[in-house]
Amino acid sequence: MSSDTNLFPILRAEIQSRGPMTFHRFMELCLYHPVHGYYNSPRQKLGAQGDFYTSAHVAPIFSRLLARHFYNLWMKHGSPARFDLIELGPGDGLLAENLLSWTSQSFPDFFACLSYSAVEQSPVLAERLSARLQPFSSRVTVVANPPERTNQFPGCVFCNEFFDALPVHLLVWQDQQWRERYVSLKDNALAWTAGSPSAPQLVQEAEIIFGAGVREDGLIAEIRPLARVWMEKLCQFLRCGELLIVDYGFTNDELRRGRFPSGSALGYRQHEAVYDLLANPGGQDLTAHVNFTEFSAIAESFGYSSPKLISQSRFALEIGQENEFADLFADCASETERIRRAQLLKTLVMPQGMGETFRVLRMTKECAGGSG
Ligand SMILES: C[S@@+](CC[C@H](N)C(=O)[O-])C[C@H]1O[C@@H](n2cnc3c(N)ncnc32)[C@H](O)[C@@H]1O
Repeated sequence: MSSDTNLFPILRAEIQSRGPMTFHRFMELCLYHPVHGYYNSPRQKLGAQGDFYTSAHVAPIFSRLLARHFYNLWMKHGSPARFDLIELGPGDGLLAENLLSWTSQSFPDFFACLSYSAVEQSPVLAERLSARLQPFSSRVTVVANPPERTNQFPGCVFCNEFFDALPVHLLVWQDQQWRERYVSLKDNALAWTAGSPSAPQLVQEAEIIFGAGVREDGLIAEIRPLARVWMEKLCQFLRCGELLIVDYGFTNDELRRGRFPSGSALGYRQHEAVYDLLANPGGQDLTAHVNFTEFSAIAESFGYSSPKLISQSRFALEIGQENEFADLFADCASETERIRRAQLLKTLVMPQGMGETFRVLRMTKECAGGSG
């Protein structure tokens, strides 16, 4: 395992002074340390030169489908004079750029009513993002933190691969009890150790996920306290509208039926999955699947209803089929370009591409007394 990164001495010093750290703390430092964290260092992370692709990179067409979806939503709400789009963790802004560009061309009336907030914590990415979105600056604000509870306007809060990048605690079922996995030091390298859970609440959460079934030793529960914190915040952004979460993840039922018994946390580096989570600290992406059951339950407690969890494939097909994917092919200048876009669409929707790995959770809140 290679521990030899700029972040390693920082991790070592913290472990030496405070004892083994939770995987949550380890993941937090690896991804978000202000200088050496994966998302805050200047190295390219997303796309061909980076470590992984998201739907936004594989297919700018995804953004066009989303643009139509938001336009439909705006229409459904009676085309209000202000419609908020709040994107969490937009990264380098490729999706936002494509989305705004297509919206301004194809739905100018909608574009004129848009207020787009791009919420990105990484100063490096926020700078790239601001430069990219400069042509749309009349409609866009790039912010490090989400707006304080507004509840004023209709709109949509959405994110693509945001929640999976928030840190998780790892609990492991051993000898009829939950233990927590910690990161410690052995021979001057990072090593795993297990201990009592760092907070009783983590055990309660693990119990909620797995219910009362028989459990094998070694079963892993991934607990992400920040998911609740974020959901509670974002459920209060809008007066009414939609929450739309695109990510890879599972439901409690699926976990209880035996999906991911060893957990889903993974590293990514140069487009390869890295199973050693402690390797290259700060130099590789770390991610874990999200829990859609938890999202729905929190949103419902804030007045959102009708959670609909579908594959990305079905989501894209439902939007595109409405007009035979005219948004994707309308401005193709050549047959070659048409074929290229058809290939991109395939990657987006085919099960062996991203179509079935990624899922879309949508939840709606009705506008009491109209949207306008
Ligand atoms: C996996 S990337 C996804 C990027 C982008 N959505 C895409 O699909 O290409 C996760 C993003 O969430 C951002 N992020 C993580 N925690 C955040 C927070 N607390 N506030 C705002 N952005 C955050 C990261 O900096 C990173 O840009």
